[in-house]
Amino acid sequence: MPERVRITDVSPRDGLQNEAGIIPTAEKVRLVELLCGTGVDEIEVTSFVSPKWVPQLGDATEVLRALNRDARGTPVFSVLVPNAKGMELARGGDAYDAIDKVAVFTAASETFSKRNTNATIAETVERFRPVITEAVDSRFAIRGYISTVIACPFEGPIPPAQVARVARMLATLGPDEIDLGDTIGAGTPDTVKAMLGAVADELAPDEREWMSHSQLTLHLHDTFGRAADCVKAALDFGIRSFDGSVAGLGGCPYASTPGRRAPGNISTELLVKTIHDAGYETGVDMERLAEAAAFAREIVAKSRGSVG
Ligand code: HMG
Ligand code: MG
Repeated sequence: MPERVRITDVSPRDGLQNEAGIIPTAEKVRLVELLCGTGVDEIEVTSFVSPKWVPQLGDATEVLRALNRDARGTPVFSVLVPNAKGMELARGGDAYDAIDKVAVFTAASETFSKRNTNATIAETVERFRPVITEAVDSRFAIRGYISTVIACPFEGPIPPAQVARVARMLATLGPDEIDLGDTIGAGTPDTVKAMLGAVADELAPDEREWMSHSQLTLHLHDTFGRAADCVKAALDFGIRSFDGSVAGLGGCPYASTPGRRAPGNISTELLVKTIHDAGYETGVDMERLAEAAAFAREIVAKSRGSVG
């Protein structure tokens, strides 16, 4: 039996947050419904961040309210939550029922952390304490993201030891999963392996159990077309959980620099193909995935057309 690899599609969140236009709520809901039929393990549905910072996802409650738990099948639904206010909204009546998991997020770069969340790395981690306590009370699982694990758009290369330090800070809060984000797609197989080595040694020096139990996830953006090679390197290393985004949509608006829009994620299509070609199984249906990707392209093209 081929070994199973876990797939999370983040397109409704990472994909749509970086569009200049705002996609209608009904189209976001349809995208999530199509993703539910693909066999992915998890869908990152939306964000409870400040609508002043990311207006594109200001309809988080409406999107979740429209998603029928009975009709959607098995995938886990996750949402981004940066602070107590976001948690309050996620626990609010209409959203709560649809959510299985919340994702808090920090960074390995101080400059990126400030720009993305108006807080230092240490301040973000302090903010997460009450969020995580409430998440546990609310029966939500917890993902903890670390961005800029290879390089920062403002500071340049980030040493693996720095990522490992932040991973330790996050792990101390007891998340179910740590998700390592190559926010600007700077990774190569070698730099990804070096970073994973530092994090795995820090978190579980003996058994590396964080990796083998899918508790470490890799979240790659694909600026230079190297993400698939990085996936192969990470599989060899022992990683068994990856994020992708259908049609390769995505990017953090606060990772953009003048003249350079933040790059999209590795497409879930390429991610899954790479994993299957490497001899692993995912449970994802490539035809259904292609349909979801076509729909994602269509709604984004329409929105880009209307923005001009
Ligand atoms: P702040 O301005 O310091 O927050 O932002 P504040 O606490 O001073 O609040 C300012 C206003 O926002 C207040 O409203 C709050 O109520 C409101 P006002 O009184 O002015 O009317 N507010 C909120 N409203 C709704 N939901 C909330 C919320 N919080 C405050 N949760 C804050 C701090 C963290 C809120 C802000 O910086 C923020 O929302 N940042 C999120 C940016 C973001 O979403 N970035 C993209 C996601 S991360 C990513 O893409 C990387 C990833 O993909 C991995 C990778 O690729 O590396 C995950
Ligand atoms: Mg991302």
